[in-house]
Formats: sequence, C-alpha cells, structure tokens
Amino acid sequence: MPAESFPLIVGIGGTTRAGSSSEKALMVSLRAAQAEGAQVIAVAGPALDLPMYAPEKKDRSSEAARLVDLFRRCDGLIIASPSYHGSISGLVKNALDYTEDLSSDERVYFDGCAVGLISCAAGWQGAGQTLSALRAIAHSLRGWPTPLGAMLNTSTKVFDDAGACLDLSAKFQLETVGRQVVQFARLHNADRIGTS
Ligand SMILES: Cc1cc2nc3c(=O)[nH]c(=O)nc-3n(C[C@H](O)[C@H](O)[C@H](O)COP(=O)(O)O)c2cc1C
Repeated sequence: MPAESFPLIVGIGGTTRAGSSSEKALMVSLRAAQAEGAQVIAVAGPALDLPMYAPEKKDRSSEAARLVDLFRRCDGLIIASPSYHGSISGLVKNALDYTEDLSSDERVYFDGCAVGLISCAAGWQGAGQTLSALRAIAHSLRGWPTPLGAMLNTSTKVFDDAGACLDLSAKFQLETVGRQVVQFARLHNADRIGTS
C-alpha cells in the first residue's frame, strides 16, 4: 500500500527532561496509533526546545521548520503536556504557537484533524485543568479533540524505566486516544486513506 494510504499522526510533547512521564505517555499513544495502521512521527522532549515563536520573523530554525512541515502534512495529532501551574507547559505551548505559520494555508491550522490530548500532573485537579486547556487550544486551532482525553496522575508510578505503562487505567486511556485519532483520520479522509 502506498505511504499516503496510511494516516500520518504526529505526536508532540514531553519535557526537556529525559524519561519524562508525558513523553512516555505520548509514546504509548503513538504505538497504539501505529498498531491501528498509522505512520507516526514523534517530536518529543528536547526536540521541542525551539526558539520562542516570533510572529514578525519569517526565518525559522531547521527544527522549527520541520515541525511546521509536519503540522502541515499530518492527518491527526497527539499532544502530551505536563501540568505546569494549572495549565500546559511553556515548551509545548511554544511549539503549538508555530501553528500560526499555517494560518493562511488552504487547510488552516488543524482543520479536519483529530487531536488526541494527554495531560500528566501530580494530582487530578492539575490533570483536569491541563486537559481542559489542551481541549481549548485544539478547538481554537480548528481541530477535533477525540472523545476521550487521557489524564495521568503521576504522584504514583505510572511507567517503568523502559516506558511500559504500569497503570491499567492510564494504559487504556492512552491507547484509546491513539486509536481514536487514527479512526477519525480514516473517517474524515476516506477518499484518500483506506478505511481499514
Ligand atoms: C514547574 C512545574 C509546575 C507544576 N505544576 C503543577 C500543577 O499545577 N499541578 C499539578 O498537579 N502538578 C504540577 N506539577 C507536577 C507535574 O505536572 C508532574 O510531575 C508531571 O508528571 C510532570 O510531567 P513529566 O513527568 O512529563 O515531567 C508541576 C511540575 C513542575 C516542574
């Protein structure tokens, strides 16, 4: 099957810290998306450490230009953020601000794209607030948040060192998000992407 028959799902998230829970969570969802038949590309952790988005500048670092290109080409997106002071982290928000480069595209922002959302926090309150913030951002970018968003409470151990998810509820949520992004991409692009 040609590559374009497989939806391209781009995952962004994590922190600059190696082994962050949000990066591990992102990878669990992306693996589920891949198992569902997607091509997946992750831009995670330190790879998201981009220059502060500046609307007046048109020159982009090569890393930022690559991210904008992936945003432009993706059929769906998965975003994983830690909860920082009740909202998403600056690292993830700055990366998302680069979507402004898509504001004049034929497909504006994430119009027609499913967006899977994951928040990791040290408590349920922060996890809920951060998931709500992610949903608001996905809506403002014309994306379609998946029915299930994943909330992880990292005050207890959720992942092992290799990134395997130890918590069955978290695993279910992350894998469901990954699958739902691919299922929506297929529904929305049935003319271009195979439906099974
Ligand atoms: C700067 C900072 C701010 C944080 N603010 C919150 C918060 O408001 N609510 C919360 O539940 N956890 C908060 N946390 C805890 C993180 O959200 C939590 O440890 C999360 O799992 C970190 O994700 P990571 O493992 O991907 O780094 C904060 C952590 C940091 C470093």
